[in-house]
Amino acid sequence: MGRKKLIRFANNALANNVLEIGKPLYETIKGKWNESYFLNQNPIVLELACGKGEYSVGLAQVYPEKNFIGIDVKGDRLGFGSEQAIALGLTNVAFLRANVTFLQDFFADEEVSEIWITFPDPFNIKRSIRRRLTHPFFLEKYRAVIQKEGLLHLKTDNRELFDFTIEELQQFGFRDLVATFDLYQSELHDDHHGIKTRFEKIFTEKGFPVHYLRGRFLVKTCEF
Ligand SMILES: C[S@@+](CC[C@H](N)C(=O)[O-])C[C@H]1O[C@@H](n2cnc3c(N)ncnc32)[C@H](O)[C@@H]1O
Repeated sequence: MGRKKLIRFANNALANNVLEIGKPLYETIKGKWNESYFLNQNPIVLELACGKGEYSVGLAQVYPEKNFIGIDVKGDRLGFGSEQAIALGLTNVAFLRANVTFLQDFFADEEVSEIWITFPDPFNIKRSIRRRLTHPFFLEKYRAVIQKEGLLHLKTDNRELFDFTIEELQQFGFRDLVATFDLYQSELHDDHHGIKTRFEKIFTEKGFPVHYLRGRFLVKTCEF
């Protein structure tokens, strides 16, 4: 393992803004993010598969009245965001090292108000489509923790994933669904606050347009 990775893992172990296995809050945080971590009642926004957490750190500065949690399985990437948040003195950002599959182990019913997913792995091979973070398998998990009419945002360069997601969201019962194939040239441009993730920079430098959509979860599962 590289030296930088090891340093980041060591930093994560000490950082208050990283929740990972072995830390006290990791086991008990479900339903208590505001009570036990943020110590306020502000809305909670998730950045799923956050990588280095550009959206968590970027939006936390734009919206100090909201709380942001970046989630990823890769600790070294999270560590980057954690260090940035600490350097900027941001108290409304936390990072959770976890698999999104287990979202409901960390968030209670309606604990979340909004979700961002930026440049998720496209999983274009047929047998791995279920691993897409916008597959109904995951949408059900998001619906379990998000408030009614909570917003979902997706940014991706991958047209196949984007088309798949629009179809799934329509079938899933999303409302106010808006989408663009070229965010930078779109009237939705302001939605992304000029924040570019690591993967966004890689793909835009290669000339790929950024696809973006947002929509609202219509109803909770129990209301069907
Ligand atoms: C292509 S990268 C994008 C990272 C970042 N959002 C960006 O735009 O730069 C995909 C990220 O998703 C994470 N990931 C993939 N599946 C995940 C899952 N089920 N739970 C948590 N993280 C996941 C990977 O660890 C990786 O950091």
